[in-house]
Amino acid sequence: MQFLNLKSHAMNNKQTNRAHRFKFGKALLILTLLCLVLVAHAEDGHELWLRDKKANPVIVKCDAKAPAVLLACSEIKNGWTGKAGETIRIILKADPMLKGDGYKLTPSTIQSATPIGVLYGAYEFLRRQKTDQELTVISNPSYERRILDHWDNLNGTIERGYAGKSIFWRNEKDSVTVTEADRKLWTEYARANASIGINGSVLNNVNASPQILTPAYIKKAKEIANVLRPYGIKTYLSVNFASPIKLGNLKTADPLNGEVIAWWKNKIAEIYREIPDFGGFLVKANSEGQAGPQDYHRTHADGANMFADALKPYGGIVMWRAFVYNANEKDRAKQAYTEFMPFDGKFRNNVIIQVKNGPVDFQPREPFSALFGAMKKTPVMPEFQITKEYLGENIHLVFLSTMWEEVLKSDTYQQGKGSTVAKCTDGSIYRQSITAIAGVSNIGLDTNWCGSDFDQANWFAFGRLAWNNNLSSAQIADEWLKLTFANSSPAGSVACDNGQWTNLFLIPVKKMMLESREAVVNYEMPLGLHHLFSAFGHYGPGPWYAPKNVRMDWTPPYYHKADANGIGFDRTSNGSDAVSQYHQPLAEQFNDPKTCPETFLLWFHHLPWTYQLKNGRTLWDALCSHYQDGVVTVREFQKQWDNIRPYIDRERFEAVQSKLRKQCHDAQVYKDACLLYFHQSSKLPFPPDVERPIYELSYLENINPLTMESIQAMFNRSNRNNASPQTTN
Ligand code: GCU
Repeated sequence: MQFLNLKSHAMNNKQTNRAHRFKFGKALLILTLLCLVLVAHAEDGHELWLRDKKANPVIVKCDAKAPAVLLACSEIKNGWTGKAGETIRIILKADPMLKGDGYKLTPSTIQSATPIGVLYGAYEFLRRQKTDQELTVISNPSYERRILDHWDNLNGTIERGYAGKSIFWRNEKDSVTVTEADRKLWTEYARANASIGINGSVLNNVNASPQILTPAYIKKAKEIANVLRPYGIKTYLSVNFASPIKLGNLKTADPLNGEVIAWWKNKIAEIYREIPDFGGFLVKANSEGQAGPQDYHRTHADGANMFADALKPYGGIVMWRAFVYNANEKDRAKQAYTEFMPFDGKFRNNVIIQVKNGPVDFQPREPFSALFGAMKKTPVMPEFQITKEYLGENIHLVFLSTMWEEVLKSDTYQQGKGSTVAKCTDGSIYRQSITAIAGVSNIGLDTNWCGSDFDQANWFAFGRLAWNNNLSSAQIADEWLKLTFANSSPAGSVACDNGQWTNLFLIPVKKMMLESREAVVNYEMPLGLHHLFSAFGHYGPGPWYAPKNVRMDWTPPYYHKADANGIGFDRTSNGSDAVSQYHQPLAEQFNDPKTCPETFLLWFHHLPWTYQLKNGRTLWDALCSHYQDGVVTVREFQKQWDNIRPYIDRERFEAVQSKLRKQCHDAQVYKDACLLYFHQSSKLPFPPDVERPIYELSYLENINPLTMESIQAMFNRSNRNNASPQTTN
């Protein structure tokens, strides 16, 4: 019995063990499956807007064999979400309706005159398929050259980059080695760009190191160009005007000197030997300490034309920047116009002047630069900043498309009503030898490329607007949201075409994106205020910052001019007269505070604190309520975001949620800092409906001290090639 008992006990034990093992095995299986599900859903944002849905089988018919056409075929096969078994025909053929790399789509054909146009057509076809848009369309590019400017340094850091280090350059010790991992990443980068029509990349910072023109770096640029080429992306380089001295040991960089000209010719020949389809140079000259033709009493035209002549035989172009200002100028906003207008018509036809959207520097809001439309005999290209140097870096959720749309649609009146910035730069009004547009990239080595999920939308929007400068931001946001977030709910259960997803995710998040730029203007610098940033970065507020040893135009008081009498920069005919750089009727409109758009009021006017605005409020009260609106709006964003939790993956939900928390905090800091500081001059009470500050001004003035980080930044900047030993603002 005992034995039996023992036996049965042993048997029982065995059974229990088996049962335990079974249970354990089951638990392990469930755990593994759970992990698999989690891994499958672990969302790191790397796929951008190209998140592949499971493709249906499709028959692609095509006779052409060009590499871009083959890429188009495989993209269609891998991304087809139409009915299984359908046939699509790719047609490589000109059509009078098609211009450049434009394309024509029907539900069963993709046609273009060029292979790369076929590839663009394929991406557009898939985008339309995935976002439920009409499949019949003809689309031509607004600008021939749609370029990303990378402010990447050869040591791998990125000027104003908030997404990790450079994807092109590694570090000082070895920036020239190329690995398979590099090639893979560049291919993904090229594909993402091609999918939105970008066709050019400037590989290095406008504050260019002369080293970029050494044989080793040219070889590396060649390697990059080889990867980008199949996707239709041309490679460009930023060059340092003083290179003949720094690299060629010449005594001068005078653009009219024979030896200098010969040096550049040889260098350019060397580049084209390696990169036969090289796009050309981007040049920042006589700006922020960079060398330039004026150092030799030559003009911008002399400098640009020297490069243009050397690049011409190869079909290369020069993008010459108009971002110039010097310390003695009473109004920095006027200088680009003053310096460049006298040379209109004096540049070679392979030069294009690259002009920032506003006259100062990528502020949250600026009027358009008066050079747009005013230079009638020289091509001009808009430069936008995709990286959010002044709009909350990679932290604040700001969709920049609305800002760019505002600029592109601004009427310059230069050739009568309707002469928008878009039309004055895309060849619709002036016969331009080149049309182009550039965006300062926000891309780095971060897994999600841009440092935040929503910053990907700005890269996407730049490409879409560069292709079609008529698109609305609402449409761009709609596309991006569907492509980036649809079908990403934790269980994959809420589909893009489900009404619930549209009503509870798409519509509210789109609204948030479309309101986001106005929100940041409100809590950072409303009513035309600008450059209120802190001492050594452009993230936090610093309206008080004005040490004696720093040039005035690098300090906020130069811009806001707040005193007991009022606030704002007088750019009227009684002040700096920047208004006269605009065409009528704008000059007159801007000149009078009653007709000046209130969004630009303090950009053009210095007004008393009690000045009455259109809604009857005093300037002081209105200023307070704009700051308040900004803060309240981002708090609403927070709540809105919490509501959408069921519709997207946990990773991206939490990442955005956490950034919104910081944004809310920082918006409050901005509001308190600016209002408490300006209150010292206005001496007026806060209006009853405005929430009281929660910080002390003395505390806020000290949260941006000269930290180690900022000392390092200052050090780096003053050691820049040829830069003057000062900090820039
Ligand atoms: C801004 C920015 C600099 C940059 C410059 C430029 O001033 O802060 O980092 O070099 O623009 O556009 O050249």
